[in-house]
Amino acid sequence: EKGGHASFMEKEILEQPKAIADTLLGRTDEDGKLVLDEMNIDPDRLRAIDKIIIVACGTAFYSGLSAKYAIEHWTRIQTEVELAHEFRYRDPVVDDRTLVVSMSQSGETMDTLMAVKHAKELGALTVSICNTYGATIPRESDAALYTHAGPEIAVASTKAFTAQIAACYLLGLYLAQLRGGTYAEDAQAVMRELAEIPQHVDTVLGSMDRVREIARFMSDTRSVLFLGRHVGYPIALEGALKLKEIAYIHAEGFAAGELKHGPIALIEPGQPVFIVMPAQDSPYDLHAKVVSNIQEIRARGARTLVITERGDEAVRPFADEVIEVPRTSVMMMPLLSIIPLQVFACELATAKGLDVDQPRNLAKSVTVE
Ligand code: M6R
Repeated sequence: EKGGHASFMEKEILEQPKAIADTLLGRTDEDGKLVLDEMNIDPDRLRAIDKIIIVACGTAFYSGLSAKYAIEHWTRIQTEVELAHEFRYRDPVVDDRTLVVSMSQSGETMDTLMAVKHAKELGALTVSICNTYGATIPRESDAALYTHAGPEIAVASTKAFTAQIAACYLLGLYLAQLRGGTYAEDAQAVMRELAEIPQHVDTVLGSMDRVREIARFMSDTRSVLFLGRHVGYPIALEGALKLKEIAYIHAEGFAAGELKHGPIALIEPGQPVFIVMPAQDSPYDLHAKVVSNIQEIRARGARTLVITERGDEAVRPFADEVIEVPRTSVMMMPLLSIIPLQVFACELATAKGLDVDQPRNLAKSVTVE
């Protein structure tokens, strides 16, 4: 069933163009307007929402963190992202104008289910973004928006992650369209950009030879750091999680702006650091700010592996390796920059001779609290 691939994880990484395309399929009408009738929620209830809380665990949590930037930007609705098990056992401010979006590939994660039940008790409107038709979480929620990534077998989540971001973007654009305002007009243009992503992911997947080579060289590495800013920050966290889970390497993701507040003390000669660059046309000079972070860590001996857009000359003087992805808009970039990090973890774990699909101590679906 692995279709000639060394692992299900490898196969699922390669399935991402289709997973994203299928998740977008049938969600717009002939004019390009978003249609999410399947959610079956009274549009007036959605118009009244004044806060969104995304609850999830693990990789699904990082997909929520990635989507938050775009959802707030497009909808102007305050959006929080919280680990489901933390949300459940504090005293969150939730009422009938709160939309609680749970994100779960399996739809069976107990921590996430308990968070959804709690949100419902508090009167929230609950929507499940899920990859498994008819699973417990979508059944317990007021509405479901399915990702169509197909079954994910490997314990380490890959195609579900990118499909979850795509589904969150659909929800964000739908809310923007429904509520009117500036971004309602832009929703169709953004949808067209989103529709091009599968093809760009395919391009990235076709250019991973060097990343695989780097991974094989690094199979003895003890620690890898990941830096990102803005939408690249959750990608750094997810890249680190992939490496911990399947390659058993100590890995940590940081917000690049946080470097000087502590983590820079970790930098010593030879320390490998992946940097997930913001798009060159990111707001507030973010790109230049991260270039100067790379400069700082390079000066302290870090080995810098930079994931950035094609044509980014500014990073070159400070990069030991440049890993390029096609140019897209700011919000689309995470869907591309995660790919090399997935490939890197998968290849490194394979090179170490580990069981990539069934890493030690982990289960595909965590059905206990
Ligand atoms: O099925 P879910 O999306 O609810 O699972 C959530 C996490 O357990 C899951 O993403 C986990 O972190 C993966 N092993 C990550 O690769």
